[in-house]
Amino acid sequence: MAERETAPVTVITGASEGLGLALAREFARAGHGLLLVARGRAALEAAAGGIARDTGVRVEIQVADLASRKGCASVVTALEKHGLHADYLVNNAALGLSGPYAEHEGGEVMRLVDLNVRALSDLTARLLPGMIARDRGGVLNVGSMAGFFPGPYQAAYYASKAYVLSLSEALAQEVAGTNVRVCVVAPGPLATRFHARMGAQRDYYIRFQGLMGVEQVARSARAGLVRGRRVIVPGAINWVSAQFLRVAPHILLVPFAAWLLRRREARRGV
Ligand SMILES: NC(=O)c1ccc[n+]([C@@H]2O[C@H](COP(=O)([O-])OP(=O)(O)OC[C@H]3O[C@@H](n4cnc5c(N)ncnc54)[C@H](OP(=O)(O)O)[C@@H]3O)[C@@H](O)[C@H]2O)c1
Repeated sequence: MAERETAPVTVITGASEGLGLALAREFARAGHGLLLVARGRAALEAAAGGIARDTGVRVEIQVADLASRKGCASVVTALEKHGLHADYLVNNAALGLSGPYAEHEGGEVMRLVDLNVRALSDLTARLLPGMIARDRGGVLNVGSMAGFFPGPYQAAYYASKAYVLSLSEALAQEVAGTNVRVCVVAPGPLATRFHARMGAQRDYYIRFQGLMGVEQVARSARAGLVRGRRVIVPGAINWVSAQFLRVAPHILLVPFAAWLLRRREARRGV
């Protein structure tokens, strides 16, 4: 029996706002059809409608909580339902957690690991084999400069991004010699609601590094993916910092990171 024809799309997680939305616009401008994934239906529908209107590409949505196994499985079901296959996968959805690790409540850390580590790994495992079989497409993982060093007071988040960096570089090597690309984009702090969500909007690291716009990061990320780059650090200063962070002695770097990342309210005893 002939295999059913499916149309290629770029699957983007966390695409209803922030960097995910900017990445969705960037891929759509390059002519990619999209499957956008997030939990909030209204924001997803608004994002999809706007992108389809502005670019003319086909945009489908999937409402899913990717911190659950069921949520990840539902992405594959949605592709099948719409007659699509994942040409590219952009693993963007992630959450942060700020404050002393020992003070995080019950399931908070596991929820972070489920979204930032397990969902990214699960979706890649589900969709990369098809890309390799078709010998085209690729995976763009959204890491962070946080992946280059340990981050006290955002310990689980920094560790999750170290995993993303390591997995991405390793998979990029595994697919070398094929037409499939795996790369990781590692931005510095961005102007999104991400920091406010974890109550870190007043912390020193934001003032120290400044906030970059998501459009610039999305442009660099897609361009780097197309060029076959493995690790993309948008912005010249951030790129230089990343080279330093990769080799700096942790005995000096980790206490400095702790000073940058410590919750300011806690310091003032508020
Ligand atoms: N912001 C920064 O400074 C910064 C710096 C470096 C790297 N990054 C990375 O960039 C990526 C995007 O960050 P951002 O700042 O754009 O984040 P954001 O503004 O907080 O947006 C997060 C997106 O992920 C979705 N999402 C959250 N939890 C989800 C879940 N359980 N299942 C499915 N979707 C979920 C959100 O929609 P719903 O809430 O509706 O689900 C939203 O679309 C992340 O990987 C982050 O680690 C961010």
